[in-house]
Amino acid sequence: MEKIIDESKQGSALRTPTKIQNNRNLYIESYGCQMNFSDSEIVASITAQEGFNTTDQLENADLILVNTCSIREKAELTVRKRLEKFNAIKKERPNLKVGVLGCMAERLKHQFLEEEKIVDMVVGPDAYKDLPNLIQEIDEGRNAVNVILSKDETYGDVAPVRLNTNGVTAFVSITRGCDNMCTFCVVPFTRGRERSRDPQSIINEVNDLWDKGFKEVTLLGQNVDSYLWYGGGLKKDFGKASEMEQAMAVNFAQLLEKVALAQPKMRIRFSTSNPQDMTLDVIHTMAKFDNICNYIHLPVQSGSNRILKAMNRLHTREEYFELIDDIRKIIPDCGISQDMITGFPTENEEDHRDTLSLMEYVRYDYGFMFAYSERPGTLAERKLEDDVPQEIKKRRLAEIIDLQRQHSYERIKANLGKTQEVLIEGPSKKSDAHWMGRTSQNTVAVFPKEEFKIGDFVMVEMQDCTSATLLGKAVGYSTNN
Ligand code: SAH
Ligand code: F3S
Repeated sequence: MEKIIDESKQGSALRTPTKIQNNRNLYIESYGCQMNFSDSEIVASITAQEGFNTTDQLENADLILVNTCSIREKAELTVRKRLEKFNAIKKERPNLKVGVLGCMAERLKHQFLEEEKIVDMVVGPDAYKDLPNLIQEIDEGRNAVNVILSKDETYGDVAPVRLNTNGVTAFVSITRGCDNMCTFCVVPFTRGRERSRDPQSIINEVNDLWDKGFKEVTLLGQNVDSYLWYGGGLKKDFGKASEMEQAMAVNFAQLLEKVALAQPKMRIRFSTSNPQDMTLDVIHTMAKFDNICNYIHLPVQSGSNRILKAMNRLHTREEYFELIDDIRKIIPDCGISQDMITGFPTENEEDHRDTLSLMEYVRYDYGFMFAYSERPGTLAERKLEDDVPQEIKKRRLAEIIDLQRQHSYERIKANLGKTQEVLIEGPSKKSDAHWMGRTSQNTVAVFPKEEFKIGDFVMVEMQDCTSATLLGKAVGYSTNN
């Protein structure tokens, strides 16, 4: 099935023999965090070398890959539902193969093959470079599994194939894994220990994106502020590095500066920051460079010191307030968003009120709020009883969502009458006559298209808003154009 074609014999300018397979179609679906969507672009790049074209038509697929999320039970149930649908398709097309990637693959390993009989291949987040071998296995009729977590895999040398791209914004991953061990979180188990990617390969990717017309990058990691490059290896082994390696190390603030300088017109964002690892250096670097967006996603999870401790979040609410005060002092117009969990084990009404009062203090621009979902294997699952009844979790969740909605509206209204730079990402979902873009603070803005086009930086006068979207009118190009 696999043919080696020596292109030089066909009069082509290419000298290197190119491996060509019968062209096949890959349908890839991603769930969960931005890192998963970014990883799928790496997977598409690796499988393209094996002759797979990506397709968004399920009926054309020869191989279906599902990049899965384990963060909450519901995320896993969504994937199981989807696999049922693929099962139905597979009954009609027995040659179709199905692979599971990502966090569920890592969490369930071989068990997946027994539980979901239709799955042919299970591949953990650090094993994508093994896909060519794994695909060969399934082609030969065997099931294939690789869930080995790596000490150094960062996919720094893989050029991602941009999927579903708007051609304007892109993700660039900078760290993998997480060492923080928040007691509720499955990520350290599914994505392994923390390691950072070579800054030069990050800058090369950003430069390449700029050359291709992209205008904004989001540097991605489970815990970006913990970024530390000292020549490779796990973050926890930094102490074992040579003096020279330690002296030459690059931290997150330094990486941000390097990227900002490499492409001074490229907008730079990053996600996610754990407050315990965010340093003032990072905030000062953000303030120093106009092209680093004034926006920080700063999950806190709870406003109660007692619960923060039980979650192994290594800061108090008072320290969090200090960080917020510093951000507001150094970058007065910084957008700030949160992640919050209600109903963590032992959470009582007083803890919940502490969460509400923390939100009152910070007044976030927006947030992502969840009811606690017990995850197998986490410290919380092993040591604590999931003792807050579902209806109480849900009531508290509704209360924080309601408060956040009020704050979002108040924060967004403060933009009215101002003129702000917006990067156009594409047409508005609701109206073909309008563009949609984001301000530096990551607020969505919508305005009439006029003569502007996708990828333009425009100055927009904000005239009206909903609780999540600014409505305005472009008054001209930004000087960044
Ligand atoms: N470090 C990454 C990944 C965290 S997962 C980041 O900060 O984005 C994203 C969010 O999911 C977390 O901030 C937390 O609010 C939520 N989450 C994680 N585990 C959870 C669980 N077991 N139950 C409910 N929400 C959870
Ligand atoms: Fe999870 Fe905490 Fe890391 S939320 S991804 S263990 S910072």
